[in-house]
Amino acid sequence: MRLLILSCLLPGILTHSAEDPNVNRLNEILGYTNNSVAPCDDYHKYACGNWATKHKDDDFVEITGLIDAKVNRDLMTLMEELEQRTLDPSSVEAKALSYYRTCRQAPMRTRLGRHYLRLVPPNEQIKWPQFTGRSRKWPSHKFHWLETLARLRLYGLNTCLVQVKVWPDPYNTTNYNVHIDGVVHDEQKKLLGDIWMINMLLRTLGVHSSKALHLARQVKMLENVVGNENEEEQEELTLQELERKTGRGTNWRKYLQIVLGRTVPSDFVVHVTNVDYLVMLVDLLNNWNREVVASYIMLHFTKDLHIMSQSVEAIECIKEVRGNMELATELLYEQRFIGSDKLRQHVNAVQDVFEQLRKKFKQKLEENRIQVPEVQLNMLKAKLRHLRLNFGNMPQHVNRTRFVQEYYTELPLANDRDYGSSFLEIQKFNMRKWFKQLDEPLPDATDFFYISDFDTGISSTPYFMTRQNVIIIPYGILQVPFVQHDVHDIFRFTLMGFVLGHELMHAFDPNSLALDYRGNFNQLLSQIYEESNYASAAACLVRDETDYVDERAADFGGTRLAYDVYFDADSKFNQSQPAFTSIPLKQLFFLNVAQFFCGKKGTSFVGHDDDEIRLRQLVMNFDSFAHSHNCLEERDKMHPTEKCRIW
Ligand SMILES: *[C@@H]1O[C@H](CO)[C@@H](O)[C@H](O)[C@H]1NC(C)=O
Ligand SMILES: *[C@@H]1O[C@H](CO)[C@@H](O)[C@H](O)[C@H]1NC(C)=O
Ligand SMILES: *[C@@H]1O[C@H](CO)[C@@H](O)[C@H](O)[C@H]1NC(C)=O
Ligand SMILES: *[C@@H]1O[C@H](CO)[C@@H](O)[C@H](O)[C@H]1NC(C)=O
Ligand SMILES: [Zn+2]
Repeated sequence: MRLLILSCLLPGILTHSAEDPNVNRLNEILGYTNNSVAPCDDYHKYACGNWATKHKDDDFVEITGLIDAKVNRDLMTLMEELEQRTLDPSSVEAKALSYYRTCRQAPMRTRLGRHYLRLVPPNEQIKWPQFTGRSRKWPSHKFHWLETLARLRLYGLNTCLVQVKVWPDPYNTTNYNVHIDGVVHDEQKKLLGDIWMINMLLRTLGVHSSKALHLARQVKMLENVVGNENEEEQEELTLQELERKTGRGTNWRKYLQIVLGRTVPSDFVVHVTNVDYLVMLVDLLNNWNREVVASYIMLHFTKDLHIMSQSVEAIECIKEVRGNMELATELLYEQRFIGSDKLRQHVNAVQDVFEQLRKKFKQKLEENRIQVPEVQLNMLKAKLRHLRLNFGNMPQHVNRTRFVQEYYTELPLANDRDYGSSFLEIQKFNMRKWFKQLDEPLPDATDFFYISDFDTGISSTPYFMTRQNVIIIPYGILQVPFVQHDVHDIFRFTLMGFVLGHELMHAFDPNSLALDYRGNFNQLLSQIYEESNYASAAACLVRDETDYVDERAADFGGTRLAYDVYFDADSKFNQSQPAFTSIPLKQLFFLNVAQFFCGKKGTSFVGHDDDEIRLRQLVMNFDSFAHSHNCLEERDKMHPTEKCRIW
């Protein structure tokens, strides 16, 4: 299994196996199945029953984790290679390597929470309370909590008391708005933990042991009274109006100026959610013990930014670089491990798969089984026509080397000896880029790229950008088993066909349906929700409960789309039984799709149901699956009579 993957990726080193690549792929897939389970009874157990055993020694939990582990290993190799070269200090290579090296080598004392806190004081006139000399009193009158929150926002803190984001206007994606909101906690999100945890944390951050427990209790009291309200109602207010509402001593203008790094007029309009809560919060904090408020904020800062969990392991450091310098790692990965010729070949292959999915979905829209009115139907077709792929999360028609180089111009080379300071530099750099979107016109779809967050940056899984109508395809996924040219159509197409089909269907899922081709909310489109055929199809989808109806819609629609591309009469794929197996192609199709859902027990992703549930739901609602395995209607669990389907 491992060897197979290596031989495919390093053709120059290990010469191609004499075996048929189809046989390899097939054996790999069959190696995951558990033949003691009947596919019609529990398809996930059947198709994936042996996956965990096969991968018991690996630290990834499912297929995209396998890809990411591979990308991470490659990037580690690249860092070792860069170590041997003389680099231009202003190059992207030098910056990525420098950050990596800092993560690996900087002394422990530069990674301590208290080190970060010394680098980022509450403001320029005051230190955090515990750093005041023992005989002196902390000058609390110089502490202004809102200003401190603004300063910490620049390093990414957005989960403490007040939230601020820039986000596209619902009615016009090209305009970004500022959103201010009170942070509401659900119970689990009271992140600081119990009093003992807080006590320990305070002591690590330099609070004297004689004070820590008492302070911890007070912090807990504060935590219990904030973040309990949620109205979701939004108002547009000028900063002046907001200041008038929240009253005494709240300088929202200054707050925003710090966050945006520029002056803003007092009639600047912001979108505010939970105004009443903010009013209450301001009143509460202004009257609360300032040292407790400062400590509360400081604890959130160190906890929410994971400041104290950083490791010096190569693998963790590579993730640090990937997550924080996504554009750089995408570029370097592509140049070193793909190269322009292969990239073109892979991109063409993926684009070809996508165009067939697009064509098939156009047919489905024209068939119009849920009878969307003509006007809306044409709008949906326009949206489909404008949907774009973006490879590597970069502008598509630029010189990528130059683009990435310029992107990082203002990122100073990390100070190799100080981890805390380079970590903070890079957070601030990324935040500035994000907030700058407010002032710069949005690039059109071909030049769009997403200023990604950490978790998106370390993942190779494609994703749909709702407001831009773009599917982003990280370079990392352009490899076996997602992209492979020398195999039978059923392997070449299916896995990528499913993944792209799923993302394509996200453009038409319940959440995105009312957005037009530019990503703008559209009243006419939103009327589709009221159409009886649509409404009953959507209701069917949640018959078996899920919190993730968009994902379910994308799974169902995407599988059907990929299946129809392959097996409809107008298919351009080879449908004759290949010599290397007697398993019917239709069964192979589902086995390939299942690979995406195989994993260790209970694998799930944020915003998705467990993989097991997803796969079972997907086959249970698709009659072609039942036919491919001759499942018995109603008798077999995977073949209930009623199937849900939107498109
Ligand atoms: C395969 O399925 C059978 C029947 O459910 C089960 O007893 C066995 O443990 C499974 N094998 C693996 C490797 O999970
Ligand atoms: C969006 O706003 C821009 C700039 O304000 C404007 O030029 C454009 O016409 C607007 N688009 C729509 C669809 O309203
Ligand atoms: C792209 O930009 C880089 C850096 O500026 C330059 O060295 C390279 O020649 C450019 N490539 C092309 C094809 O123009
Ligand atoms: C289709 O597949 C069969 C069996 O693998 C093969 O013999 C045939 O050449 C293929 N046809 C095309 C057009 O590739
Ligand atoms: Zn999805």
